[in-house]
Amino acid sequence: MLGKSGLCSGRIPGSIEKVCPMLDLLVRNAVFPDGRTGMSLAVHDGRFVEVAAGLAAPAHTVLDADGQLVSPPFVDAHFHMDATLSYGMPRVNQSGTLLEGIALWGELKQALGFEALVERALAYCDWAVGRGLLAIRSHVDICDARLLAVEALLEVKRRVAPYLDLQLVAFPQDGVLRSPGAMLNLKRALDLGVEVIGGIPHFERSMEDGAESVRLLCRLAAELGLRVDMHCDESDDPLSRHIETLTAETMRHGLAGRVTGSHLTSMHSMDNYYVSKLLPLMAEAEMQVVANPLINITLQGRHDTYPKRRGMTRVPELLASGINLAFGQDCVLDPWYSLGSGDMLEVANMGLHVAQMTSQAAMRQCFDAVTVNPARMLGLDCYGLAVGCHADFVLLQAHDPVEALRLRATRLKVYRRGRLLAETPPATARLHLDGRPGLTSWQLRESRKH
Ligand code: FE2
Repeated sequence: MLGKSGLCSGRIPGSIEKVCPMLDLLVRNAVFPDGRTGMSLAVHDGRFVEVAAGLAAPAHTVLDADGQLVSPPFVDAHFHMDATLSYGMPRVNQSGTLLEGIALWGELKQALGFEALVERALAYCDWAVGRGLLAIRSHVDICDARLLAVEALLEVKRRVAPYLDLQLVAFPQDGVLRSPGAMLNLKRALDLGVEVIGGIPHFERSMEDGAESVRLLCRLAAELGLRVDMHCDESDDPLSRHIETLTAETMRHGLAGRVTGSHLTSMHSMDNYYVSKLLPLMAEAEMQVVANPLINITLQGRHDTYPKRRGMTRVPELLASGINLAFGQDCVLDPWYSLGSGDMLEVANMGLHVAQMTSQAAMRQCFDAVTVNPARMLGLDCYGLAVGCHADFVLLQAHDPVEALRLRATRLKVYRRGRLLAETPPATARLHLDGRPGLTSWQLRESRKH
């Protein structure tokens, strides 16, 4: 049968060949993140045309998943691609603080060239693809009248479009009110094709300016029909409450479901009574949230002695309130963070540790926070392992999402639109133990099997 859009959408196992005499690809014996086992995915013309257990149909290529996890691709809802892979340029962040990082970026961006920006961003996208990370929302600093980084990342977006979705946020790093000309630059960036409005209210000169910046930027988003994603309350100050203004402005302008608050680290330190009022307001406004565990645990609490705050926002409480929450990478080898590799399983692994989300159900929520949740946040079309969706997926060397998190599992194969983009050999160690040489892969069920 044919779907509304003319896509193959046969749902009855065994009937696929009537519409698609020869599938492009048949994936067999896969485990899905939701726990379904023995699953097959039939791919034709870049889409899933059938998804069911135990399918059999002729195909040009058959991929036996061998009981391992097939997931939709990883999605990063928060990144800075203009700064990535610049670690040590022109110097290293000595204090390790957010504010020295911003100052260091201010020094660096004056010296950036278009080609170097493009080259570093493309190199990072290569890393991402190898990790099964096929959609990234990147903030791009617009506090530079040349808009060099904007032009460079728009060029990168064009070049990577065949294999990676890059969504750009116009980000006034130095404050849309504090930095001269920033609002004008932000509007120019939107005119050039940047599609999301950013902000940084906690970096404006005063609480009042911060609130005013939120009001101005939300009004602009409503006028232009754009999504909003603000760096918001990235601070240990429990009185940094711009999320309240962002939530109120979201409701005022009818932007429910289209606004993301990134970081929200001050929520970690807020008074519990105040948070008990804030969470329902955020849920009412359908606010979306990005926590960036690697960066939050590194940058926050820097003014503490002991006890030292973790600094990450209240992830389990936000999820329990029904708020869509994603874990973001934020930084890789840049003025703020000296590590990272585009591995969203590393990000989720850190997130579950910092949030103490160690139950089986909570760990699966953390896997969702780097796959389906950010996909919804970015508004990705046709994402998922369902009939009619793009045939984008990752085969992992793991039997379920929890094992994938534990091992930061190898991405054995990465597909987009039914085409193989990347593959990595399985992670195994060759043992040379006296009397019993062999291989081990750290997979529990594997080791039991052999
Ligand atoms: Fe950020």
